Amino acid sequence: MAYTVPKLTDYSAAALDRAAADSHHACQSEAAAVRNDADLKSFRDRWMARKNGILTQINDLWLKGAPPEAKREAGIQVNRLKARITELVEGAHVSPTGALDSEAVDISLPGIRRPIGAEHPVIKTMHEIVGVFEKLGYSVAEGPVVETDYYNFEALNFPPNHPARDTQDTLFIAGQKAKPQRDRLLLRTHTSPVQIRTMEKLRPPIRIVIPGKVHRNDPPDASHSPMFHQIEGLAVDTNITFGDLKGTLDHAMKALFGSSVKTHFRPSFFPFTEPSAELYVTCFICGGSGKRGTDNAPCRPCKQTGWIEVLGCGMVDPNVFEFVKDNGYDPKKVSGFAFGMGVDRLALLKYGVDDIQLFFQGDVRFLEQFG
Ligand code: PHE
Repeated sequence: MAYTVPKLTDYSAAALDRAAADSHHACQSEAAAVRNDADLKSFRDRWMARKNGILTQINDLWLKGAPPEAKREAGIQVNRLKARITELVEGAHVSPTGALDSEAVDISLPGIRRPIGAEHPVIKTMHEIVGVFEKLGYSVAEGPVVETDYYNFEALNFPPNHPARDTQDTLFIAGQKAKPQRDRLLLRTHTSPVQIRTMEKLRPPIRIVIPGKVHRNDPPDASHSPMFHQIEGLAVDTNITFGDLKGTLDHAMKALFGSSVKTHFRPSFFPFTEPSAELYVTCFICGGSGKRGTDNAPCRPCKQTGWIEVLGCGMVDPNVFEFVKDNGYDPKKVSGFAFGMGVDRLALLKYGVDDIQLFFQGDVRFLEQFG
């Protein structure tokens, strides 16, 4: 039976909805049944003719006939229906299969390309470094980025007001003055707090690496970002010596940068290690010569020194063990080493990128080069 526009008695939203759906449906099946040009013309006239076309009837019967309180809702429905029917009528054409072309699949069109995602260069570098330590039998631990003053500073032997805190300025969560200092929250400045968190949970011996995000109050420039990434390492056992630290890190650097890389330790200071050192590796850009290419251009990454600083390290300070003594870390019985390296810096060097900001701007043209 051909569709005729019903008179409405019920103007509720549900009834209007149903009436509109019926009408749309009728128009759809009539469009699908168009077989030739004559069909198409009468289909168009039947729905669109100004005088007595179905849309005009709908306008007269549903909208003009609506009681005042239903006018608004009826207007919305009728307008929506008009738009949908106009679309159907304009899209309709002669189709030998009886299917609307808009529903047909054109198999000659190219497919939709969905590019495969790739690891971000920083994350890739992180996985590589963690992989080297996993092969040495290390486990992976993680900790919160929003940390307490206790774990980030106090238990790492930075006493309140100690000047060493100035070297790691960060963002503190506001409105915490009422709390004791050790409970105040901050964005962690290094992954070292997870040393303490892990030793609170696991008894010695332990060997862990801790990858994660850290923050410092450093204005962004080509080599600084207020957010960056570190990998911490911690080994605690009986009779761990500085020799173990050197051997482990020398092996790790060779695994990461190639067997010809040389390592070099220089004395340094961290409150939570004693003695402390900075580890340098021979520059893998210039091979340690400080010069590049045939014209002996100065090597920028190592500032012509031939050495690149890659991490801080040292023997765990006995004062740190005191904070976790009850879990088996008696400084008279156990010893250990720790290290912390900046992943982003290593990724910059590895990929020859000259601005750390590029890592965090999310520009696909930059990132897709690592895919
Ligand atoms: N946490 C130190 C830093 O961020 C690095 C470090 C880790 C030094 C472990 C020694 C031992 O600068």
